[in-house]
Amino acid sequence: MEQSLNKLAQTLQKEIIEKTKQDYSKIVVDNWMNPTNFGKIDNPDGYAQITGSCGDTIELFLKMRDKKIENARFLTDGCGVSIACGNIVTELIKGKTVEQVKQINANTLLENIGGLPSADEHCAALATDTLQLAIKNL
Ligand code: FES
Repeated sequence: MEQSLNKLAQTLQKEIIEKTKQDYSKIVVDNWMNPTNFGKIDNPDGYAQITGSCGDTIELFLKMRDKKIENARFLTDGCGVSIACGNIVTELIKGKTVEQVKQINANTLLENIGGLPSADEHCAALATDTLQLAIKNL
């Protein structure tokens, strides 16, 4: 019984991953499955937390050095796309100046990730809105 349940779980997981790969670009899937910047930074120079209309929250932590973003990390309790977008945003901004980061909005992010299904575009906006608020809070 336990073996057949495990097999069913494995099959379902495989199907979900295959469906995800069909619906999202490789960069989204990679950042969703293996986020490199998930976590917090103690004593950040910039920080913001926003809860979107979907009820999910993204937190962003920034560390500055020589007027550039030295490190950026994020946390989210949201969907897989919010994990991907949070991770891609933190990767995009490392080494950039505040003025450069101010140019990043949801459209910029969508261009960098090969787009999203329209139902998920708000996840990208949540990530970039949180970024812009963190920049304001520096
Ligand atoms: Fe809420 Fe994606 S559904 S951030």
